[in-house]
Amino acid sequence: MTSTRKSIHGQWSNRIVFILAATGSAVGLGNIWKFPYIAGENGGGTFVLVYLVCIALIGIPIMMAETMIGRRGRQSPINTMSTLAREEGRSPGWVMLGWMGVVAGFLILSYYSVIAGWALSYVFRTGSGAFLGVTTDGVNHIFTELVTDPERLLAWHTIFMVMTMIVVARGVKHGLEKAVRFLMPALLALLLMTVAYSMTTGHFMEGVEFLFTPGTISGQGVLIAMGHAFFTLSLGMGAIMVYGSYLPRHTSITQASIIIAIADTGVALLAGMAIFPIVFANGLEPGVGPGLIFKTLPIAFGHMEAGTMIGTAFFILLSFAAWTSAISLIEPAVAWLVENRGMNRIYASVWIGIFTWVLGIGSVLSFNLWSEHTWSVPFLFENKNFFDTLDFITANLMLPLGGLFIAIFAAWLMSENSTRDELNTNKFIFRIWHFLVKYITPIAVIIVFLNVIGVISL
Ligand code: TRP
Repeated sequence: MTSTRKSIHGQWSNRIVFILAATGSAVGLGNIWKFPYIAGENGGGTFVLVYLVCIALIGIPIMMAETMIGRRGRQSPINTMSTLAREEGRSPGWVMLGWMGVVAGFLILSYYSVIAGWALSYVFRTGSGAFLGVTTDGVNHIFTELVTDPERLLAWHTIFMVMTMIVVARGVKHGLEKAVRFLMPALLALLLMTVAYSMTTGHFMEGVEFLFTPGTISGQGVLIAMGHAFFTLSLGMGAIMVYGSYLPRHTSITQASIIIAIADTGVALLAGMAIFPIVFANGLEPGVGPGLIFKTLPIAFGHMEAGTMIGTAFFILLSFAAWTSAISLIEPAVAWLVENRGMNRIYASVWIGIFTWVLGIGSVLSFNLWSEHTWSVPFLFENKNFFDTLDFITANLMLPLGGLFIAIFAAWLMSENSTRDELNTNKFIFRIWHFLVKYITPIAVIIVFLNVIGVISL
């Protein structure tokens, strides 16, 4: 049966706009800030390999499944799940998948906004020439000065949340679509310039080897690599589902998903190739944690030709990339409030924004006043502060779990008639997709989970 539902929130003008919007959601701090630092912490090569395998075998199929479910339901993930569960004769409990996504979106945005605040503040640091001719100690000092000052972090976090609320309030057509139309190509160009600089450091190959030569990896490392495949493609919480719900009927979901995944992975790898040569050229440690790009890129901008201008532009574009990702994190919740509470988008965005902002204060404090407040959960993690805990719970547990359930729903519980009709792709591709979401994705996610809690050992 073909579904003819329409979204009350509007529709993307065409396929390109969907690809831009979804790429805007996917490409963000995850690629440029998070990927390099977690690759650094987990030893490089093997981590990158696991991440790439996860993108191909789990990420792309789940992206297709999520978009497909969204387009079929044409509502916020919560209502989409309840409509489709009813239609397919399944338990109404599936609505919980939508709810878990909304919660994950809140949690992620609360710390995402704090890091986006760092990027915003670096626009001004770079712009004022603070990094001209800077030394390793100099960048470390500037970074530490920022993150140990809760008031400054709070101010930037607030500015970023307000920016996000404004775009979300304006809605799909006027807000999201305009925000994602440009700037991505510009970000790519600046990233390439930074890679070009890294080639002149004399340590380029060392950086490349670090990223691509397999070594050892822990069970935790595998979990983090898999979690990151979900995080970087914005999967597992309904962001792509809600974007799919605005997708015109005849767009090829397969093609769009592959394009988005390639663009996203490309940006992450380029970021790695820009950053690690600088790490090695300056005797830095790859595993310094969340501050990695803020301690390395300024060195490049401080020493390259026209570095002040290029660096300023880079951090502006990074902030934009974060912005276009952030809006997708609360879109599922906003869409639900509009649908079920009859709220207008402006109120819905403001309420959600305030809520997220308050939670973000915990992450602001994690880098200063609360940095020593850590806890451990047996089998899962040790000594994580508030920020690290949120990041771990969302990226490494909630997203893969969301993805697991999306896969189960799409492949085991929806009828093949529905999925075949909605994906509308050729038989061969459909079979591969179906096989991957039916067996490979669920098994892979379960194995990685069991491995981390020590039930099995890879
Ligand atoms: N993918 C984005 C990044 O890499 C972050 C993001 C946006 C996200 N929407 C999401 C992550 C939904 C998980 C789920 O920066």
